[in-house]
Amino acid sequence: MYTYTEEKKFTKEQVQELFLSINWVSGNYPERLYRALMNSSTVLTVWDGERLVGLIRVLDDTAMLAQIHYVIVHPDYQGKGIACAGHSIDHEQRSKGISTSKPVTIEKDVWIGANSVICGGVTIGEGSVIGAGSVVTKSIPANVVAVGNPCRVLREVREEDRIPMDELAF
Ligand SMILES: CC(C)(COP(=O)(O)OP(=O)(O)OC[C@H]1O[C@@H](n2cnc3c(N)ncnc32)[C@H](O)[C@@H]1OP(=O)(O)O)[C@@H](O)C(=O)NCCC(=O)NCCS
Repeated sequence: MYTYTEEKKFTKEQVQELFLSINWVSGNYPERLYRALMNSSTVLTVWDGERLVGLIRVLDDTAMLAQIHYVIVHPDYQGKGIACAGHSIDHEQRSKGISTSKPVTIEKDVWIGANSVICGGVTIGEGSVIGAGSVVTKSIPANVVAVGNPCRVLREVREEDRIPMDELAF
């Protein structure tokens, strides 16, 4: 059974293991990483028993805005899908609370830009980028940049997209 908590009960070693499990470089700086998480306003964690298997870092101003900075899922727990609820388009059914649920699948190493919406039944392929503010109504293949409402493929991810190491933010 999975449990979720906002309590920062994780240890430095547990977060390091989680970040390294997906090859994030910040896992190589456990002191800074742990301090950053402890100083973050909200960190939601997911546990399989005593094992840390997921983490969501939220940055907020405590009054008006909260943004999900990132979502990390341990590779052993990826690919399980996210259920997306919907209601009947027919108003009589809707008024009786008749609703649907279609899975959303977000494959590995996807970047979803701020304020995007992913509709039920959609898969976003490995390595793809969804531009800010997109509404994704149909599945997006792997390794592409896709933008807009409705979200459409703009181009493939290219070698030139790699940021030179001396320009890295972290
Ligand atoms: C998609 C993105 C990664 C840029 O990709 P890119 O290939 O470099 O795209 P470009 O800037 O060259 O733009 C190409 C075209 O797509 C359009 N475009 C870019 N981003 C778009 C978006 N989010 N929605 C709609 N159109 C977009 C541009 O206007 C341009 O259109 P044009 O050819 O008609 O002039 C970037 O625009 C983006 O949305 N980043 C997400 C930022 C974010 O959400 N950050 C949150 C913190 S992690």
